[in-house]
Amino acid sequence: MPRAMVTGGAGFIGSHLVDALVRRGDPVLIVDNLITGKRENVNPDADFEETDIRTPAAAELVRRFQPEIIFHHAAQMDVRKSVADPLYDADVNIRGLINLLEAGTEVGTRQVVFASSGGTVYGEADEVPTTESAPLRPESPYGVSKLSSEYYLGYYGRGKGLSCVSLRYGNVYGPRQDPHGEAGVVAIFTGLLLEGRRCKIFGDGEQTRDYVHVHDVVSANLAAMERGPEGAISLNVGTAMPTSVNTLHAMLADFAGGDPDVERAPAREGELQRSALDFSKAREVLGWRPEVQLCDGLRSYVEHMRAHRAPG
Ligand SMILES: NC(=O)c1ccc[n+]([C@@H]2O[C@H](COP(=O)([O-])OP(=O)(O)OC[C@H]3O[C@@H](n4cnc5c(N)ncnc54)[C@H](O)[C@@H]3O)[C@@H](O)[C@H]2O)c1
Repeated sequence: MPRAMVTGGAGFIGSHLVDALVRRGDPVLIVDNLITGKRENVNPDADFEETDIRTPAAAELVRRFQPEIIFHHAAQMDVRKSVADPLYDADVNIRGLINLLEAGTEVGTRQVVFASSGGTVYGEADEVPTTESAPLRPESPYGVSKLSSEYYLGYYGRGKGLSCVSLRYGNVYGPRQDPHGEAGVVAIFTGLLLEGRRCKIFGDGEQTRDYVHVHDVVSANLAAMERGPEGAISLNVGTAMPTSVNTLHAMLADFAGGDPDVERAPAREGELQRSALDFSKAREVLGWRPEVQLCDGLRSYVEHMRAHRAPG
């Protein structure tokens, strides 16, 4: 039963991972400052510290808890905010990571699993589905900070004997994703459709993304914990299936029974046109593959949201 620290464990993906670790019986410590995470997501059978990963207090928590493995999900993950305030983005995403890694290497942490982003480290890829050997051309400070974190993990993996697995997620969707504000398009569309409101699509709606269910993302984290190799490695966690925003909207409107029409708005500057992730390397190294079909995942997400909607 390895002691696991989960940063960002009050957030969307991190909280699902905590639930899975708790179910296995692993002792879990969540470190999260609740800037976007929610107290109600915190699993009551895990320890929880409301702490910022950049602080000496967070490093002290690592020294005290002595995790065998750190799952690092805490992040500044808003692309537009990273453009408006690149210093804050780098502070949280790069300095926060190094703070934990330095403390972890002091107390013998053996493994780090890092939530990277396949949608941003490649930029506009020449080939879709994209493999890990494709050129890395992040187009936002957020993408640069995720990629820099992977490079730091390369240094700690090779130089300090840690096993570091960077999982490059596609667009993750599922319960607890925040439908308000900047969160993923699946949550935003579903929220609007269930309220009987019309969705807005930027550009022609033919831009594609790789939508991967949070259940599959959690299983990739568990596989990385069990089968992550020595040294450092980066692996795509997606479905290899590009889905356009128009198709996604049509599927969600069908399941939610909402307004099938959309409001069209001008394309957003700098938005990627095509993104999908080849997962052959994760299959080979971790024995992982996605299991949730998009239509099943979306249908169950809509049902979940319908059941948990605030009345009125
Ligand atoms: N959701 C996606 O589609 C997606 C795609 C690719 C990568 N990721 C990565 O997965 C991770 C989790 O994303 P999510 O979608 O669950 O987002 P989320 O916002 O729900 O979770 C992030 C968590 O980190 C916490 N946090 C932020 N700054 C912190 C700080 N300085 N100190 C301590 N805690 C802090 C937040 O309170 C939140 O609970 C992030 O690293 C993100 O970059 C997500």
